Amino acid sequence: MSVKVIIGAQWGDEGKGKLVDYLSEHTEIVARYQGGANAGHTVHVKDKKYVLHLIPGGILRPEVICLIGNGVVVYPEAFFEEVGFLATHDISVKDRLFISERAHVIFPYHKLVDQASEEVLKSKKIGTTGKGIGPAYVDKFHRSGIRVTDLYDESRLEDVLKENVDQKNSLLVDSFGRPPLNYREILSKTHEFAQKLEPFVADTSEILYNGWKSGRNILLEGAQGCLLDIDFGSYPYVTSSNPTSGGSVIGTGLPPTAIGEIIGVVKAYTTRVGSGPFPTECLDDIGERLRAQGNEFGATTGRPRRCGWFDGVAMRYAARINGFHSLALTKLDVLTGFEKIGVCRNYRIGGEASDKFPAAGRLLEESTAEIEMLDGWEENLSQSKRFSDLPGTARKYVQALEEISDVPIKYVSVGVERDQIITR
Ligand code: GDP
Ligand code: IMO
Ligand code: MG
Repeated sequence: MSVKVIIGAQWGDEGKGKLVDYLSEHTEIVARYQGGANAGHTVHVKDKKYVLHLIPGGILRPEVICLIGNGVVVYPEAFFEEVGFLATHDISVKDRLFISERAHVIFPYHKLVDQASEEVLKSKKIGTTGKGIGPAYVDKFHRSGIRVTDLYDESRLEDVLKENVDQKNSLLVDSFGRPPLNYREILSKTHEFAQKLEPFVADTSEILYNGWKSGRNILLEGAQGCLLDIDFGSYPYVTSSNPTSGGSVIGTGLPPTAIGEIIGVVKAYTTRVGSGPFPTECLDDIGERLRAQGNEFGATTGRPRRCGWFDGVAMRYAARINGFHSLALTKLDVLTGFEKIGVCRNYRIGGEASDKFPAAGRLLEESTAEIEMLDGWEENLSQSKRFSDLPGTARKYVQALEEISDVPIKYVSVGVERDQIITR
């Protein structure tokens, strides 16, 4: 069971960063497999808070090798900013942080197109992070993208970059009324970062394969979450990659037979940033209270997160799509003080009860949540070390979520710190 995958089971921000950091203690290699700097993974270690966007959570443990897999889209400026941020905390990345030579590079035009496309969508906007993720994956699948390895093939780089800048300039000028970009300036910046990036470039799939074959403990770190998956999420209000478990093999080059354990990370309630349907959303003072108690503000954009009760329909769907062996339940402590806590077992669509997470956007928009109210608790959970330390109603709540999900809850997190986690 040496390769574990950590996956967000909801709409992102479930606490993946905390779990990856926690499990990294007994791990030799941690690899990100999709997304880019749209992610914001928060880790608290003693009195320090780290928010990681591109670099895997394992970087906070000096002995762990960290990889940015081929499935990730890399904005070099964001990468170096993060390396610099880690250096200010005396965390060295030398000889232990590598980027796949097959990963695609995000250029400034991807960010501009991302932001301009959102502006024209007006009320129908996706609410992207504006980091150029969608446009970079468009180029990847259009087969016009520039991969890390291409940065070191000068004539090819010049050709492809020129074509890309010309094409994006037509789009920026003609469709979005924006000023064009200067090819020469972009090329010169590209040369600069290509040189700085070179020591980090590697065949990360080979490192992972060799690690797996020699029995190393490996973690594959998902970004975003199942309901933001391009295939299985609430399309079109999704991200442009596959956070689900299938994406972990495509995005790293490890074969599916390598995967030993798939762990879903799930909040004790539900949040979402950006637009799109959210059946259990609480638009009243309960939503406000969850946001305040859970400090639910985006780690990447600072936007307030939309909040609601635990969505069991979406959870069962995520369990089926990802094949979770177990779950890590986070932020249970945030629910302290709620006299009653809502959970959703079924949606109601057109007057009918349904336990299906619908594919059609219109049906998901029309789905309302049937909420059952469970008993809450008053006790502070933050010092609980064992499951039996939790108050009876909190244990019952966890058991109810386990029964609804039909997946064992192996970890229960009760605070931001490394040691505020119960293993069952
Ligand atoms: P990620 O994107 O899945 O890594 O999650 P984020 O870092 O975006 O958001 C999760 C937030 O919840 C972070 O601020 C974490 O520090 C915090 N967090 C994680 N686990 C817990 C927990 O058990 N209790 C509390 N109160 N906060 C937690
Ligand atoms: P982590 O890894 C929560 C959301 C955006 C938007 C949609 C598309 O921290 O859980 P994008 O910029 O990816 O094209 O935006 O996806 N989104 C996230 N929401 N957590 C994230 O990452 C997210 N990354 C993207 O808000 O709705
Ligand atoms: Mg996050």
